[in-house]
Amino acid sequence: MKINENTLLEGQRVVLVPYNAEHVPRYHEWMKSPELQQLTASEPLTLEQEYDMQRSWREDHDKCTFIILDKQQWTDPSVDEETCMVGDVNIFLTDSTDPSLAELEIMIAEESYRGKGIGKEVSRMMMCYGVNKLGIRRFQAKIGLDNHTSISMFKKLLFQEVSQCQVFREVTLELTVDESVRKKLQEEVEMKERDYRQTCSSRHELPAQKEQNYSQVS
Ligand SMILES: CC(C)(COP(=O)(O)OP(=O)(O)OC[C@H]1O[C@@H](n2cnc3c(N)ncnc32)[C@H](O)[C@@H]1OP(=O)(O)O)[C@@H](O)C(=O)NCCC(=O)NCCS
Repeated sequence: MKINENTLLEGQRVVLVPYNAEHVPRYHEWMKSPELQQLTASEPLTLEQEYDMQRSWREDHDKCTFIILDKQQWTDPSVDEETCMVGDVNIFLTDSTDPSLAELEIMIAEESYRGKGIGKEVSRMMMCYGVNKLGIRRFQAKIGLDNHTSISMFKKLLFQEVSQCQVFREVTLELTVDESVRKKLQEEVEMKERDYRQTCSSRHELPAQKEQNYSQVS
């Protein structure tokens, strides 16, 4: 999706940025992990295929993805974006006849960042974005039956089980966004939307340059 190609979402502990080619090498390294392949039901890809996938996430009208960055690291301009990467979060429009229905997927790839509330924070941010910018009214999550952590997280986010498929060993959870859910999300989520390119370039401005710009303005 092109809609978020210049969007940065700043949360409390994370920053979400569009998935760009510069993120692909680290992403590719993550997806070599058999554990992550299994938990996310993904097939291993070559680096070339991963670049194709990144382009398709950017171009296809039915997919919206952000890379999750550690905000604390990102605040230090000497740390490059690739180093700040923690995982990714996606919205996938699964029904061409119903653009208000979306599948929500999240991966905290860096193990040391799991279990600290980041999964919940990012999921809520993405749901807010999906509701406000994409008009999503119903979210689904398809999770492996053995992935108790993920099932537990989506239940905490008020998703309810709607079906189980024993053949694929998968459970489907759903959340309909009515007025009370929408209000709760708005209350819970602290998020600022920024211009991605502008924020990136100001992040890399040298302190002296910033001072100069400031004095020019004042
Ligand atoms: C599933 C995942 C997204 C959860 O993110 P996270 O940042 O680790 O989770 P959070 O710290 O926000 O915790 C959210 C909830 O998950 C559950 N949870 C977290 N860690 C858990 C653990 N070790 N055991 C059981 N439940 C756990 C709890 O219900 C928790 O809510 P609580 O803190 O109110 O008790 C993350 O662990 C992950 O990406 N794992 C690998 C990839 C994956 O499984 N993706 C999902 C594919 S469907």
